Formats: sequence, structure tokens, C-alpha cells
Amino acid sequence: MDADFWHERWQKGEIGFHQDRPHPALIKHFDALGLTPGARVFVPLAGKSRDLAWLAARGCAVVGIELSAIAVEEFVAENGAQPHVDLRCGDLFALTPQSLGPIDAIFDRAALVALPPPMRTRYAAKLRELATPGTRTLLVTMEYDQSRMRGPPHAVLPDEVQALYGADHDIRMLEHVTDLPDAPRFAARGVGDVSERVYLLTRR
Ligand SMILES: C[S@@+](CC[C@H](N)C(=O)[O-])C[C@H]1O[C@@H](n2cnc3c(N)ncnc32)[C@H](O)[C@@H]1O
Repeated sequence: MDADFWHERWQKGEIGFHQDRPHPALIKHFDALGLTPGARVFVPLAGKSRDLAWLAARGCAVVGIELSAIAVEEFVAENGAQPHVDLRCGDLFALTPQSLGPIDAIFDRAALVALPPPMRTRYAAKLRELATPGTRTLLVTMEYDQSRMRGPPHAVLPDEVQALYGADHDIRMLEHVTDLPDAPRFAARGVGDVSERVYLLTRR
């Protein structure tokens, strides 16, 4: 899975992952991030997600990173001026703590699960490099029978979350959501039993 895959998705408008509303887990569990006004929230692999403007409306300073210039242009066209959202067009893996700046929290929806297994290890290492002790992450994963569908999104099970983040994060499972509104999209790809799991990770 390389950059061309994602550029092609955006060029062809094949963005079934995009939701026209902020993600329900963000709305429901935002308070678990324990943020104060002006807190800096990082959204990796941001797409043109509605979550960015929602976080800004909650008083956060939001920084997103997204490969596709089309996504960034569409975000601006659809959301108008968002002075508290800095949606950068670029590669997550090229970010450094200096170029990103300090962050208080991370919101990961359809980011970790967008990546194939070897890249997930690299991804977790990059987030580890960009975060500092105390940084909290709201992580949304997907679970289904991986043998029934090639990702993305990929299934990421609790053991893998533990393996990726357990060494330097406290991990709390907040919710297991089994009645997903986009279940029909998965059913169309032959996957009947799909769920999301929401975690709060706190960097030690
Ligand atoms: C499955 S989408 C999810 C987007 C968004 N989080 C959402 O919930 O709608 C994954 C996004 O990550 C972007 N992406 C993939 N690899 C990336 C990378 N290395 N750096 C930045 N963005 C990347 C893709 O272009 C795509 O828009």
C-alpha cells in the first residue's frame, strides 16, 4: 500500500470511508481526552473528515496530516474557513516533533486500520515519536473476519493494539460498537459481522 493507492482513491472519488458527520465515538468519548480549551489535537491520515471542524468547534487547535491535495481542497470547499484547523498536505512519516509541534491528544479514526500490518508498526512508532508523556489518543479500530475481505479498512484486534501500544501506553477499552451505521457497506463486500472498538490510550 503506497501513496499512489490513496491518490487514485481520491482522484476516482472512491472514498467510502468518508462520513458526512463527525464520528459518533468522537462525540461520545471526547471528554475522556480531558482537554482544556486551546488544546492541540493531532489527526493523522485526516482525509477531509468532519471530525476536524467538530474538534475546532469544541475549542481545540487541530492539526491534520493528509497525503492527498484533493482531500485538502475538498475540506476547504466543504467546511469554509476554519481558522483553528491546520490541515497539512503531506506524508505522516515525514513529520517530526519539530515540524508538528507539541500535541495534547490524537484522534485516530480510519488511520491505523487504513494501513497493512507492517506499516501499522511503523505508524505506531511514528506516533510514539510525535507524542509526549501524557498525550492521550482516542483510537477507533475495526473488527471483522479478515479472511472475508482484503482491507482497507483492516481488522485490528485487541491483541494487536496491546502489541503496538502497550509498552508505553495505558490502554483502556471504552466501547465495543456492534450496530454500525455503515454495516451495509461491509455487507456489500461480503462481511456480515463488523464492529468498532474505541480505546483511550494514555502515553506514559
Ligand atoms: C481511510 S482514509 C480515512 C480518512 C479520515 N481519517 C476519515 O475518517 O475520513 C485514510 C486517509 O489517509 C491518507 N493517507 C494514507 N497514507 C498517508 C500518509 N502516509 N500520510 C498522510 N496521509 C495518508 C489517505 O489519503 C486517506 O485520505
